[in-house]
Amino acid sequence: NLILNEAKSIGVVVPNIGNPFFSSFIDGIQRVSREFDYLPFNFSGHNNPKLEEYYVEQLIARGTNGLIIASSSITKDTINGILKKNRTPYLLMDQNPLSDGDQVRTSDKVGGHLVAKYLLSMGHKKIVIIVPDDATDNIKLRITGFKEELTDQNINPDETVSIIFTPLTKLGGYDVAGAVIDSGASAVFAVNDEMAIGLYRGLKNLGIEVPRDISVMGYDGIDLGTYVEPALTTIQQPIARMGELAMQLLINRINNPDINHQVVELPVRLIQRESVVNIS
Ligand code: RIB
Repeated sequence: NLILNEAKSIGVVVPNIGNPFFSSFIDGIQRVSREFDYLPFNFSGHNNPKLEEYYVEQLIARGTNGLIIASSSITKDTINGILKKNRTPYLLMDQNPLSDGDQVRTSDKVGGHLVAKYLLSMGHKKIVIIVPDDATDNIKLRITGFKEELTDQNINPDETVSIIFTPLTKLGGYDVAGAVIDSGASAVFAVNDEMAIGLYRGLKNLGIEVPRDISVMGYDGIDLGTYVEPALTTIQQPIARMGELAMQLLINRINNPDINHQVVELPVRLIQRESVVNIS
């Protein structure tokens, strides 16, 4: 207890530490932690509320100074019963929907608009979205923005867009390659890059070539996207910056427990690479 307190520690819970998105995010946290002499302890919650509760309890019992929670399955009971009760400073973000307290988020809805605007400008009129059926709020916003853009351009989303549900993983993307082809779409919007990269492999196994036969767009801007073939067109989230800012806000909160809620929204941008072709 004493040792952790002296070291000034913070706990970080992410949904899936195997996704490069979360390694970049943790990198950002680590950079600011180092600057301010904090030690971050990182955990992957694997979308298991019991496991997350366990880590949160253990961190608090060991005297951690604050928590950053990016995972979605932490419950209100854990927040109220453990974090608030112990007066532990915390910050919720990314997949976490509980809009309570300090937050760092990105413009997910704008991101959805950018995807739709770009695919439409490239002449795509039949688009399939691959998304988990239990999508978290940040991801749902991407789809809301996407559909809004169609409506803004007087295009009926029901006639243009189909949805295929699959997990937010490489395997999730891989598994739906056949269904994507059967949908007859000329372009796919994968709601994260990992799914898009898994889909690449599934399509290749079926003899389908991206983007000659079908265009693919991802979301996140993980560095892997520049190394796959063809390089992945995507929406860049400022991932490491999200981590840096989360840590800065948490330190503010630790040092000034009574300041107003701090909410920061960071912008996203389109990165045009090689996985989408113009078919108009
Ligand atoms: O790839 C991980 C995804 O989960 C990202 O899109 C991020 O925003 C998170 O919600």
